Amino acid sequence: MSRPANGSLPRLRPADLRIRPLARAETIPSAWYTDPGFHALDRDAVFATSWQHVADAHQLARPGDHAIADVAGEPIIVVRGKDGALRAFFNVCRHRGGPLAMKDGNADMLICKYHGWTYRLDGMLRGVPHFNRVELFDKRDYGLTPVHLAEWEGLVFVSLAERPKPLETYLKGIRERIAPARIGELRFARRIDYDVHANWKVYVDNYLEGYHVPYVHPELYSLYDYEGYVTEVHDWYSVQVGPLTGNSNVYTAGGGEALYYQVFPNLMLNVVPGRLQSNVVIPTAPDRCKVIFRYYYADVESSGARERIDADIAFSDRVQHEDAEICERVQQGLGSRAYDKGRFSVRFEEGVYHFQALLKTAYRSWLKR
Ligand code: FES
Ligand SMILES: [Fe+2]
Repeated sequence: MSRPANGSLPRLRPADLRIRPLARAETIPSAWYTDPGFHALDRDAVFATSWQHVADAHQLARPGDHAIADVAGEPIIVVRGKDGALRAFFNVCRHRGGPLAMKDGNADMLICKYHGWTYRLDGMLRGVPHFNRVELFDKRDYGLTPVHLAEWEGLVFVSLAERPKPLETYLKGIRERIAPARIGELRFARRIDYDVHANWKVYVDNYLEGYHVPYVHPELYSLYDYEGYVTEVHDWYSVQVGPLTGNSNVYTAGGGEALYYQVFPNLMLNVVPGRLQSNVVIPTAPDRCKVIFRYYYADVESSGARERIDADIAFSDRVQHEDAEICERVQQGLGSRAYDKGRFSVRFEEGVYHFQALLKTAYRSWLKR
């Protein structure tokens, strides 16, 4: 597999890559959010080198079940084999680049949608229509190109890296902390995709701080003990812990805490008692991203559960629109000649600082290759 060329690297000033202590640090420069060169750099240095959550094991239970995804601009397919194993491949036919699937589904064989080359679920090329006069052609040389795959608590990840570190390296400690929520046993309920007119990092930055909650989300603000809100920082993720107030609310009849994990670079796991919501932020253009929300619950079937799920999703949708709107305005602000870099609240923005430090580290290792 050929490796992306260094291409035209955007302008990276050594001073901007330096990581200073939080209390003295500046935010990353505005060009990192607006310049198309950084869109390409993020794709190669961040998205093509990290584990990406692309599907759910429960939804790929039967042989032939498959799901498609976009990872670092590459079309990917995840498929359950006849042997029960999950595998991932580039969703790219070895004939002339056609797609094996255009949407999620189930199939006995993966049949290219362009001219019908047929692959087994394990990626081997099996059938090639009208190829009998072709010389020096061996089907064994034309299997699908595999991609690394790993599972964590029912979530399926892939990595385009040549030799990725184990997925557990990045998630260490999360399972133990959220054990009472038993997320591996939750059932998938719904997926909702949002298009946001902002760079993916604007969206992640915004997620990583509760600083904006009183201003952007008055309704959400009333559910938390804001003073008790804390951020904990780990190697590859940070978690915001929001104690829920005792009043009955959309999340819980009484108390508990909300855990907001952000795993570098673009995965969020939002855990409240009895429910997991995951968000995956996918850059689609220098100033646009897609955010995929997936909802999982302990109970998805009883009529009471369905009502609670509808209420939860409706509430989350309101909050999401508030976030999307402010992110779109911030994207405009970052593009203004009036702005380059800002500073961090030590109390509330350690998660943003940590994310930006990991980003700088990713850029630096990309430059060192
Ligand atoms: S591109 Fe797949 S069969 Fe031609
Ligand atoms: Fe928000």
